Amino acid sequence: MKDTENHTLSFDEFDEKINPRPEECDFDRIVEAALSRRGFLGGVLAFGSFAAVGGSLVPGVAKAASDRFAFDQIGTSVADDVVVPAGYKAEILVRWGDPMWSDAPEFDHATRGTAASQERAFGDNTDGMDVFSHNGKTLLVVNNEYTNRDILWGNNPDAKPASDDDIAKGMMAHGVSVVEIANTDGKWHIVKDSPYNRRITPKTEMAITGPAAGHDLMKTDADPNGTKTLGTWNNCGNGTTPWGTYLACEENFNGYFSSSEDVQDDNPKSITPAMKRYGVNTSDWGYGWAKIDERFDVAKHPNEPNRVGYVVEIDPTDPTSTPKKRTALGRFKHENAEAVVNNDGRVVIYMGDDERGEFLYRYVSDGVYAPGVDTNELMEKGTLSVAKFNANGTGTWVALTPESTGMASQAEIQIHTRQAASAVGATTMDRPEWVAANPNVAEVYCCLTNNKNRGVKPNAGGDDTSVNGPNPREKNNYGQIVRWRPDGGDHTLPGFTWDLYVLAGNPTVHSDAYRGSANVNADNMFNSPDGLAFDDNGLLWIQTDGSYKNEGDFAGQGNNQMLAGDPVTGEIRRFLVGPKECEVTGLTWSPDRRTMFVGIQHPGERGDSHWPEGGESVPRSAIIAVTREDGGLVG
Ligand code: FEO
Ligand code: CA
Ligand code: CA
Ligand code: CA
Repeated sequence: MKDTENHTLSFDEFDEKINPRPEECDFDRIVEAALSRRGFLGGVLAFGSFAAVGGSLVPGVAKAASDRFAFDQIGTSVADDVVVPAGYKAEILVRWGDPMWSDAPEFDHATRGTAASQERAFGDNTDGMDVFSHNGKTLLVVNNEYTNRDILWGNNPDAKPASDDDIAKGMMAHGVSVVEIANTDGKWHIVKDSPYNRRITPKTEMAITGPAAGHDLMKTDADPNGTKTLGTWNNCGNGTTPWGTYLACEENFNGYFSSSEDVQDDNPKSITPAMKRYGVNTSDWGYGWAKIDERFDVAKHPNEPNRVGYVVEIDPTDPTSTPKKRTALGRFKHENAEAVVNNDGRVVIYMGDDERGEFLYRYVSDGVYAPGVDTNELMEKGTLSVAKFNANGTGTWVALTPESTGMASQAEIQIHTRQAASAVGATTMDRPEWVAANPNVAEVYCCLTNNKNRGVKPNAGGDDTSVNGPNPREKNNYGQIVRWRPDGGDHTLPGFTWDLYVLAGNPTVHSDAYRGSANVNADNMFNSPDGLAFDDNGLLWIQTDGSYKNEGDFAGQGNNQMLAGDPVTGEIRRFLVGPKECEVTGLTWSPDRRTMFVGIQHPGERGDSHWPEGGESVPRSAIIAVTREDGGLVG
C-alpha cells in the first residue's frame, strides 16, 4: 500500500497529480473564449451592477450602516488568537481530545493520545454542528471532519504513523461527537458522562436506506445484502431536519481508500472510471486505513467506496439508534444539507458537491411533513434534481431519472450521481460549499468557494468548465456567493431566478473583476467563502476557508474569518477572525440565542499555531462560545 507516498502533498497537489492538466487540447481554445467574456463581465461586476449576470436582486453598494448589525466591524488579524468586536467575548467550549467520559484521560500533549483515549474523547477538526433541546437538556452534535498529519502525528519522526495504533487513533478522531452541554455560572462546558454522549466513528454500524439499498453495487463480502455498513467519515457541513434529527454530510470520502494492486488498465482490479470520477485512487491521502482494515483496499473490496458519500441521519436523542445513510439524497462529496419545509409541506433539501466543476443539487420529498407524522420515508421517497443556470439570470432544476440520464435504474443514479448529473448537462460550479435558506423569504444562498481550474481544465468527468453565469471568473482564487429565488416562492417548482450576492476579491490589488463586487472593500475583504448560515433575524453569516498568506492576491486579508451579510442591502461586515492557519467552520446558537457557537478547525495546519493553550502546546481544533458582555442576543 503506497499510503505514505503522498504524505507531503496538499490535497490540491494530490489532485494535480492524479488529474493533471492536459498538455494542450481544445481546452486552451476554450480558455481564450472565456478570457474575452471575462472582459465584459469583469467590467460590469467591478462597478457593482449585477444586471448582466442576473436579475439584479442586489442593489448597489450599501454604504450606510444598517441597524441590523449589532456590532462594529473589526479589522483583519494575523494573531494566533480569536478576535471579536468590542462588547463581545469568545470562550472555549470543547477541544479536540477533551474526554467525554470520566473514565478517559485528559488530552496528552506529548503523545496526542491513543486510539482508545480518542474513542472516548471529542473528535478532531470540528466542522458542521447544531444544538438540540431535549428533555430539558442541551445536546451539541458536531462533525469531526478529518485529521491533519502534522498535528495528529507531529510527535513522530516525519509526522508519520509509527504504529497501527497511531492509524487507529486517526480513524477514531473522525466521525461525529454528540455531547451534552450546560451553562454553569455563565460559562458553557460539556457534561461528562451524560447518557446522551456518543461517539460515532468509522466503525459505528449504519443502515443503508433508500433507492440504492440492496443494489448489487452496494454489496460486499461483509454485507451480502447491501443494506448495512460501518461508519461515516469526512463529515463536513451538516443539516437539521424539521423533525429534530441531525444530518452529517460525507465529503472527501475517497481519500481514505487505496489499492494493494498496481494500476493497469487491463487489470480487473484496477481503479474503475466510476471510482476515478470520485477521486478514488491507488494511494490514499496518508491516513493509512487500509493497513488496519482491508475494507479500505479497493482491490479487495471494490464496492466499499459506493457505500460512502451520502447524507447520514442521526437521532441525537437516542444514543442507541442506528444512523441511516440516506441514498435518496445522492452520492457525491456532500458539503451540507439545508432543509426547508415548502408551503405545501414537502421537504426540500439543497446540497452542494464540493469539488471543482461539480454540481448543485435539490431533493424534494414525495410526502409532506407535519409535526407528529412518520418521517421515515421523507428522505427515502422523493426526487433528486441538479441545477442548470442560464446566463440570463434564470435556471432550472433537472430531475435525475432513468429517462433523463439514460442510466439503468434509480439505484444506479443515487450511487453514480455525478455521472447522472453530467449526463443531463448540469452547470459546473466553482466548488459548491454550504447552502443556507433565508428564513424571511423563499431565497437560498450557496458559497462557491473558489476554483483555480475554472477555464483551465475540465472536471473529473470531463465536463467543460469554461466561465458561465454564476461562475464568471477563470482561475477563480476568491470565490463568490450565488443565490436563487424559486419561481412563485415554491421550492418544488423547476424554475428559479438567480444572481450573485457577492464576488469576493481584493480591491487593494486588482482593478478588474478580481477586485470583487461593489459590496467588497478594503475594510471587509475576504476570500473563499465556505460555511454559511442564517440567524433568526435574517442576517447571513459567512465563514471562510481560504488563503491566509496575507500577501500577493491575499494581501491585507489576514487569517480566516467570519462575516455577517445583510441580504437586503448587500452590506457585509467582519465579525470574527480566527487564529493562525485555521479554518472557521460550523455555526449554531444556544436555544436562548444568547450564545453563538463557532468552530475553529485545524489551527496550525502548517505548524505555526499553539492555539488555544499557547506556549509550546499542540494546536487543537475547538468550538468557541461567543457571547455579548451585556448578555444580549447574538442572533
Ligand atoms: Fe469540508 Fe467543502 O469543505
Ligand atoms: Ca467546508
Ligand atoms: Ca472549503
Ligand atoms: Ca479544513
